[in-house]
Amino acid sequence: MEAVNSEEVAMIQIEGITKQYRERRTIPRTPDHTKFNETVTVLDDITISIEKGTFFCLVGPSGCGKSTLLRIIAGFDSPTRGRVTIDGMEITSPSPEHIFVFQEDGLYPWLTVHENMEIGAKRIEDPVNRATAIEEYLEMVGLAGFESHYPHQLSGGMRRRAEVARALIASPKVLFMDEPFGALDFATRLQMREEMLNAHAMFPMTILFITHDIDEALQIGDQVVVLGSRPSKVKMDIKLHQPHPRDIASPELAELRREIYYQLGLHTAL
Ligand SMILES: Nc1ncnc2c1ncn2[C@@H]1O[C@H](COP(=O)(O)OP(=O)(O)O)[C@@H](O)[C@H]1O
Ligand SMILES: [Mg+2]
Repeated sequence: MEAVNSEEVAMIQIEGITKQYRERRTIPRTPDHTKFNETVTVLDDITISIEKGTFFCLVGPSGCGKSTLLRIIAGFDSPTRGRVTIDGMEITSPSPEHIFVFQEDGLYPWLTVHENMEIGAKRIEDPVNRATAIEEYLEMVGLAGFESHYPHQLSGGMRRRAEVARALIASPKVLFMDEPFGALDFATRLQMREEMLNAHAMFPMTILFITHDIDEALQIGDQVVVLGSRPSKVKMDIKLHQPHPRDIASPELAELRREIYYQLGLHTAL
């Protein structure tokens, strides 16, 4: 299987990103029309440095701006202030060659698993090599034999694995995943985490993974950034070096977990 050249793996700098929205309100609720155009600060001066090949996890309470930050890094949205660079190049628009945005239920329902894979494998020009690669990637995620199935004929976990295979075969520099396994049952989610770790060990791409699950972040991340609630600032920026599989109950990780809960004001729940 083709390995990704580590030279191609992206380093990401997020420099002083602030994002403000106009309040989402179409009808003024008060006679005071100045209130109508209020701006809301979602992200407040976010600076993060992500090394090449990092499995980066972003955690924070719902509504704190995780998806907004991911959209800005991917170039789908622009910041009010600050900038993002990938390998020194400022991001102003999405780059389909370098990034892959993993979307839950992103498979085309009217195409078979194999046809969906063809879309991810567009970069492989030779049809024989492409077919071989598709076979290998499907095998890797345990979907050999399901090539001619349509997405609705697969379980939720299998669909997610097909999506992972399609993302990997596109061999992106950066893979964006916004709460990709949120809708899966607990056991399948654990399994998907492990598969993502294996994939990351095999393909040294930079992964930006959003989750609201603190344990998930501690289990898989090389770097975990915790955002607070709006206007969100970086509360913690942690580098984790523990080998996998990690024991979330180990004293070191348990202490970190406590600290994150504390930072998020959730310590009463512990
Ligand atoms: N296009 C938009 N216009 C106005 N407000 C928005 C827009 N997109 C997101 N927001 C607001 O920004 C906040 C952060 O949203 P989001 O990034 O989706 O949070 P998260 O992914 O952390 O749950 C929310 O309060 C949301 O209502
Ligand atoms: Mg979100």
